[in-house]
Amino acid sequence: MKIVAFVSPKGGAGKTTSALLLALGLHDLGLRVAMIDADPNKPLVHWASLPKRPERITVHAAPTEADIPDALREAKAKSPDWMIVDTEGSLRAGIAFAATAPDMVITPLAASAIEAHQALKAAELVDAASRRLRRKVLHACLLTRLPAAVRPRSLRQVVAQLREGGVAILPTALIEKEVFRLLFAYGGGLTDLEQTGAPGVTAARLNAQAYVAAVIDMVEGRPADPPAPGTSWNPAERRPEVAAPQPHSPLRS
Ligand SMILES: Nc1ncnc2c1ncn2[C@@H]1O[C@H](COP(=O)(O)OP(=O)(O)OP(=O)(O)O)[C@@H](O)[C@H]1O
Ligand SMILES: [Mg+2]
Repeated sequence: MKIVAFVSPKGGAGKTTSALLLALGLHDLGLRVAMIDADPNKPLVHWASLPKRPERITVHAAPTEADIPDALREAKAKSPDWMIVDTEGSLRAGIAFAATAPDMVITPLAASAIEAHQALKAAELVDAASRRLRRKVLHACLLTRLPAAVRPRSLRQVVAQLREGGVAILPTALIEKEVFRLLFAYGGGLTDLEQTGAPGVTAARLNAQAYVAAVIDMVEGRPADPPAPGTSWNPAERRPEVAAPQPHSPLRS
């Protein structure tokens, strides 16, 4: 079982959205996913209460640090292939995540200097967790809420700031998509949203698939594939989004 935790001392960085997109993407690959909702606001518990929660995704609430052991036990009883931990955007929660002993921590951030500074703080928390667990916890930043029209200069600055701090960046960025917000209003996954007639689902799905593949590659220690068209944060690699999803098998050997 792989355990991935979403951690950032900054509120509203995109943790819950990217945690759910990872869970949905792994589910679409036929995997069982248990999610720990370690945010007292319980956004994932709310999502799970909406219609169309996929059967192989379960959500377990841990509103306080003291609830984490019980939630872990409950989650493990579902025999998941992956466990995904969503935390509250605060320094306190950023320390509590170590109790879940993750293989990898992902810190989402938008392309701004303030958020990059917070991501570097998250890297310090991950280092502290590695010392506590006496093993290396992988850590990568995920650029998210990237506007379709990228501002190369601010992106370059943020990337330089993260690299200077020695923090890895996932090759795929999550684009700013209304569809990703709608998941929390309608429940279910992207396919369910497509059936409601929501626009932009195909491009959103392609973006989410490339992101999920990048996480799997990193957790499993494989070199990353180049990002799918239109999903890279690197202006040099960005090409227009394609209309149709491309065949992609992140489970290749
Ligand atoms: N890629 C995206 N496209 C569009 N909207 C997004 C994207 N990522 C996040 N959002 C929106 O940004 C807001 C904050 O995102 P989210 O709730 O995922 O952040 P968070 O880090 O979990 O916040 P908190 O610290 O409060 O738990 C939400 O309104 C969410 O819908
Ligand atoms: Mg959240």
